[in-house]
Amino acid sequence: MGKTVLITGASSGLGYEFVKLFSKDNYHLILVARNLKRLEEIKIEFPSTKITIISKDLTAPNAVKELYEKIKAQKFNVDVLVNNAGFGLLGEFDKLDLKRQLNMIQLNISVLTELTHYVLQEMKSRKDGKIMNVASVASFEPGPLMAVYYATKAYVLSFSEALVEELKGSGITITTLCPGPTSTNFGKVASADKSKMFSRAMAADVATKIGYHALMKNKRVVIPGASNKAMVYLVKFMPRSLVTKVVKYISQQ
Ligand SMILES: NC(=O)c1ccc[n+]([C@@H]2O[C@H](COP(=O)([O-])OP(=O)(O)OC[C@H]3O[C@@H](n4cnc5c(N)ncnc54)[C@H](OP(=O)(O)O)[C@@H]3O)[C@@H](O)[C@H]2O)c1
Repeated sequence: MGKTVLITGASSGLGYEFVKLFSKDNYHLILVARNLKRLEEIKIEFPSTKITIISKDLTAPNAVKELYEKIKAQKFNVDVLVNNAGFGLLGEFDKLDLKRQLNMIQLNISVLTELTHYVLQEMKSRKDGKIMNVASVASFEPGPLMAVYYATKAYVLSFSEALVEELKGSGITITTLCPGPTSTNFGKVASADKSKMFSRAMAADVATKIGYHALMKNKRVVIPGASNKAMVYLVKFMPRSLVTKVVKYISQQ
């Protein structure tokens, strides 16, 4: 059997685009998301690809452990892990629903961390494996009006880069994909689709192709698009008080 990739958040957006790319390279795909109907449609769309679908709310109690146990019960190895499931929320921190913001921290941080922990054990025993963690350009700066989201993505980048160093020489690579605004369901879910930053969103297939290529080349961090790269570069030299002003401005309509 060929290699197996586990993709979280595979029912739409970047996750769905990753399905197309891994399918082309003859991977066995394990796809996870809540929307079972959509996952079933995707399975039908790729008849010549081996696809295992698992419908799960990854933020439910014990969900990540149950997911991993289910994969191991079917004797599948995870050769590649794509930690992609995530969401954001636009609005003033104190006015946004607290439960939803805590749920975001759970999905964007805890689920990604727990799944990485399980999968790393088996990758280490095989001395082989690839992990892609989907962060964001938001990882590089504080984000007024999306304060919690930006902070979760800062965690993803910091966590991933630390692991790159820990895993040197282990045969396991970690690639962090940091897209800028991209045309997926993200903008709608976050209520950010009318904001200035989404007026020039990148196509999802473009962002994922760049990410996929970087993953296969064992790159450490990848930022799709020249303007996103330029922004991340500029942020390094700008005073933080100016950075937060700019982010607040582009987060508005
Ligand atoms: N689009 C952008 O502008 C952008 C920019 C930078 C980074 N990102 C990051 O890219 C990643 C993918 O987002 P996207 O843009 O592709 O958005 P999307 O189209 O909304 O996709 C999000 C995916 O996550 C899944 N998901 C959400 N909550 C879940 C839960 N509780 N349990 C399991 N799966 C869950 C969704 O599936 P179900 O609804 O079926 O569960 C969906 O497949 C996220 O981590 C996001 O932060 C996006």
